[in-house]
Amino acid sequence: MHGDARMQRRVLITGGAGFIGSHVADALIARGDRVRVLDALLPQVHGSDRRRPAYLSADVELVEGDVRDPAAVKRALASIDVVYHFASRVGVGQSMYELADYTSVNNLGTAVLLEALIATPVQRLVVASSMSVYGEGLYRDSRGRLHDRVQRTPDQIAGGRWDPRAEDGSELAPVPTPETKPPLLASLYALSKHDQERMCLMVGAAYKIPTVALRFFNVYGPRQALSNPYTGVLAIFAARLLNGRPPLLFEDGRQQRDFVHVRDAANACLLALDVEEAAGRAFNIASGRAMTIREVAERMAGILERNLAPHVTGQHRVGDIRHCTADLSLARRVLGFAPQVGFDRGMRELAVWLEAQSAVDRFEHMRAELADRGLAV
Ligand code: UD1
Repeated sequence: MHGDARMQRRVLITGGAGFIGSHVADALIARGDRVRVLDALLPQVHGSDRRRPAYLSADVELVEGDVRDPAAVKRALASIDVVYHFASRVGVGQSMYELADYTSVNNLGTAVLLEALIATPVQRLVVASSMSVYGEGLYRDSRGRLHDRVQRTPDQIAGGRWDPRAEDGSELAPVPTPETKPPLLASLYALSKHDQERMCLMVGAAYKIPTVALRFFNVYGPRQALSNPYTGVLAIFAARLLNGRPPLLFEDGRQQRDFVHVRDAANACLLALDVEEAAGRAFNIASGRAMTIREVAERMAGILERNLAPHVTGQHRVGDIRHCTADLSLARRVLGFAPQVGFDRGMRELAVWLEAQSAVDRFEHMRAELADRGLAV
């Protein structure tokens, strides 16, 4: 129960027909807020018929339109109190060949939204940023020194030496990455996410629109678009397993990520709206728990009861980082964020959702597209 005297808010979510946005819509509606969504219903996410997704709450007012269209944005902003900006192209690999479209949707789209907000200010703006702005996560060497600008060289990668090394060649161990780590932008997607984050915080500060950026780590859960070949690894693995195929591990499968359930991510979005001190800052949103991709594949196979061991490809996906997991201290302290959904429970839920979908295996499609462009070695 949210029995406080909180005013009902009128909320606009750009990109709110998508994965994270639709869960945020549910959470807002559950506590009595009113939600409008501006979404272009991109075919890559919503299918060629671009229909309103069945999972989108009937209480959501859907405005179909492009965030780059000032008239559509102006219409969507009428009588709105707060805005979530989630409309984005989100494929990391794809961003390295659809350069113009990624820059247009992500950067120009944000600029158009911000111009509209200057004309019609709101009480708060929350923008979806990404762990991809970090590039490699933070590392520590054997003497305890931190390394925050680690990058693997092409030679290392070509030689299958997957773990990054310090400049003197010594070993490094990954440690949780705090928001203070300097950005290291390795894809057009990462560049555009960083731009979105900075643009919103900068314009928000200049025009006194309290703004919060959330750097999502690997978000997973129901409603991940399987038809989208650039969807996250968990959905890809589950789809393969459901099709009787083993998950394919890039590199040696020992790369680490931090998976956070979409309901936890949605909860963080609500906190970003409610917590006054959050304004003007960027927060990691993750589970705070490191996991290797191999472990993810094995656990998913167990949950789906498919006896299919992952297959190590030894291939590197261009632009991939080795390890990045979150230091959640800031989000815990300032937002009061505390992830609730355990990994096994979350994976089971994802599996139930995927089983209900026609589990399309788009992995080969993604790999072929990248290989065609010389982006997978
Ligand atoms: C990337 C972005 C992140 C974005 C996410 C989902 C970076 C650093 N991060 O995360 O911002 O939110 O995509 O779009 O740019 N893998 C396999 N087999 C597969 C698929 C993936 O082994 O079939 C491996 C990848 O090589 C990678 C890991 O799984 O090491 C995670 O991949 P993915 O789910 O695509 O997400 P990230 O690359 O971590």
